[in-house]
Amino acid sequence: MQRLIRSEGMVEAWLSNIEKKEELLIREAIKKLTNPNPTKKYRAIYASQYGNKNAEISEIVECAEFDHPNYIALKKLGEGGSGKVFLTRRVIGGEITNVELAAKVFKLNQLHPIIKGERERRELKQLMINEFTKLAYVQHPNILKTFVPEDFHETFLLPMEYMNGGNLEELLNELSSDYMCDIKFLPLLQTMIPGIAEGVDYLHRNGYVLRDLKLKNMLTNQTLKKVKLGDFETITSIEELQTSNRFTIGSNMYAAPELIRGEKATQSSDAYALGACIYYILSREKPSDNGFIATLNRIQDRREYDRILRKRLMKIQQSALQIEEKIEARKNDIGPEEYEILYETAETVSEYVPPLTSILHRLLAFKPDWRTFRNIHSRIQSFQNDYRRAKERNINLVFIP
Ligand SMILES: Nc1ncnc2c1ncn2[C@@H]1O[C@H](COP(=O)(O)OP(=O)(O)OP(=O)(O)O)[C@@H](O)[C@H]1O
Ligand SMILES: [Mg+2]
Repeated sequence: MQRLIRSEGMVEAWLSNIEKKEELLIREAIKKLTNPNPTKKYRAIYASQYGNKNAEISEIVECAEFDHPNYIALKKLGEGGSGKVFLTRRVIGGEITNVELAAKVFKLNQLHPIIKGERERRELKQLMINEFTKLAYVQHPNILKTFVPEDFHETFLLPMEYMNGGNLEELLNELSSDYMCDIKFLPLLQTMIPGIAEGVDYLHRNGYVLRDLKLKNMLTNQTLKKVKLGDFETITSIEELQTSNRFTIGSNMYAAPELIRGEKATQSSDAYALGACIYYILSREKPSDNGFIATLNRIQDRREYDRILRKRLMKIQQSALQIEEKIEARKNDIGPEEYEILYETAETVSEYVPPLTSILHRLLAFKPDWRTFRNIHSRIQSFQNDYRRAKERNINLVFIP
């Protein structure tokens, strides 16, 4: 374990052990620090040594400026509308431990339109700290583990479990254009979609509305074996939603038709957002304000809405069911090993995608009370059984949602 350094002499000693090229970079970063005391300087050295090896000066500066007695930043993981997220190591009694956590530092003044003065900011901070403290006791395999928030200057920080595989939007971007044959598509189908549904279901059963469900807030690990929902700053209990006039936060790319009309968020609008996430995964469409979901929920007529939705779902289903034929056709162009892998991938895709399109048909339903999403696992399984039986008897099963 290392101690946080608090004297100029020790900072210089550390720097003298570092390669010239890196030392220049760190010295440049140090010049840009506000109030560059030895601890901050050491933080700059530490981030450039143990964090992102290709970090730019600005990132090193940001890590060094994250000057909290209990954490030292290794690298910046990203920045969203509500704050910056760092990968950190926990510092206990001045000693840097090996415990790695992600920590989000909230920008309170940008969080909510009602924030105007000092008193409101303090109130919001307390409200959020209370909410996050309750969430720190939630235990579920598909919910990001968060810890009790800690005061940090004018704001607060939220320590969280670190997920080293990034978010699902990034993962989708990594898929090749022939994505249904991409080996990385399988964990999305088999693990991630059922996993996020389980997580949402769990929070709903505990009386919450999430209000900002999106692919960016779903995190995974490098082996793609886990998926967890994170980012609960908009989560609200049903009672609070009924009494407050906190309006809906969230993005149009995931918003249900009634939210676009200005109604309040409900568990049904969460179900819709979950549907939008599944749609983006199955279609590999990048979430955007002029994509299919946005187009769909601009349609006012219920029948027309359903017709367009079914047409799109049928298309996705067809391509999943034709994937085995496509691979057969390529058999002579590819080696036997690749053929084997692709063939197995194709089989899984054709067993998973059709039931998912049927679930999607329910989740993206026009009317809030038609949206159901419980027991996704068992619904997939029962379709798989039908599918296998039909295949054995050589029946071409088309699963029309
Ligand atoms: N616990 C975590 N482990 C690993 N990466 C994380 C963790 N929490 C957040 N991130 C990453 O940090 C980045 C910023 O996250 P943040 O939640 O602040 O913003 P966002 O989700 O991108 O946008 P928005 O503010 O609109 O929700 C994202 O790329 C996210 O994947
Ligand atoms: Mg987020």
